[in-house]
Amino acid sequence: MTQTVQELSPTRIFETGFAFWTSKVLLTAVELGVFSALSTKKMTAQQLGAALKLHPRGIYDFFDTLVSIHFLNREGDGPGALYSNTEETAHFLDQHSPGYVGGILEMSSQRLFKFWHDLPEALRTGKPQNEIKHSRKSMFEELYDDLPRLEQFMGAMTGISRGNFQALAEKFDFSHYKTLCDVGGATGILSILVGRRFSHLQCQSFDLPQVQPIAAKHIQKEGLASRIKAVSGDFFKDQLPKADVITMGMILHDWNLENKKHLIRAAYEALPKGGALVAVENIIDDARRENTFGLLMSLNMLIEFGDAFDFTFADYKSWCAQAGFKEFELIHLAGPCSAAVAYK
Ligand SMILES: C[S@@+](CC[C@H](N)C(=O)[O-])C[C@H]1O[C@@H](n2cnc3c(N)ncnc32)[C@H](O)[C@@H]1O
Repeated sequence: MTQTVQELSPTRIFETGFAFWTSKVLLTAVELGVFSALSTKKMTAQQLGAALKLHPRGIYDFFDTLVSIHFLNREGDGPGALYSNTEETAHFLDQHSPGYVGGILEMSSQRLFKFWHDLPEALRTGKPQNEIKHSRKSMFEELYDDLPRLEQFMGAMTGISRGNFQALAEKFDFSHYKTLCDVGGATGILSILVGRRFSHLQCQSFDLPQVQPIAAKHIQKEGLASRIKAVSGDFFKDQLPKADVITMGMILHDWNLENKKHLIRAAYEALPKGGALVAVENIIDDARRENTFGLLMSLNMLIEFGDAFDFTFADYKSWCAQAGFKEFELIHLAGPCSAAVAYK
């Protein structure tokens, strides 16, 4: 039903238009370590500000904004008021917590926020707007040239993917299969979570040589080195290791159509008959109307890579069918993320 001009409200327009204020407050809180400094403690604004080395001018505005958007609790009012983590921030945003997902927000604060400033240019040119804008290197070469940046990226991937991989371990039945290869496995987190739940499974986490030692360290720390191997290779130069299931977590969306199809064909070749290729992605709904995060992620791929893009399940099925895959299944994981499965 059409609304009259009097009934229309600009509230939603302003909420979205100013969402970057709210977003930057949360990202900054993560970047500065507000939730980790508080951890299980209660602190006054002055104590917390001092612990974070903040200028007094902003501390009440900053912490009270976080209270008003429910990312901090506050007992009392005024200078004696005590700030503490909410249940959510204690679990997900305190670095001491095993559930920490802040890595992706740290990277958003330090890298993506400023690169998104150039969205208009990205839309006009179709070109990336990140570190590679002024260099000739590929995105991963540029990112991995600098160890702190490589580590930040690995932390970011763990932050965004942990919940999805946990859901995959619960929702996809790996009991029919003996071997798994996680292609572009980063820290090995998918193999670790799936391997913990399915103790019969032999896994390989496959990634570039710079990343292999990071995965090996994490796998060792989890005590899973006898069943999960960190292997190094380049998925555009080397064959993929043979396995009953090949998983690709946020891999296909990093590449243009030609490279996506190359990776799907490589997976097909590495799988036995009946084997499964599982792509864990923010799969966009076929009508491209509902999964806002998937659509935004695709814009983020424009910012990061230029010609890379996110896709629908219909797209995935058609590319996989061209490679020879026979059956398909879409399993919703967590939030905007799903597992798109193609069976050989
Ligand atoms: C977007 S991250 C995804 C990480 C992880 N699968 C996840 O979902 O959290 C892409 C991964 O692909 C790896 N990668 C990029 N190019 C590669 C290549 N040519 N060969 C092997 N791995 C590659 C990167 O090192 C990185 O770990």
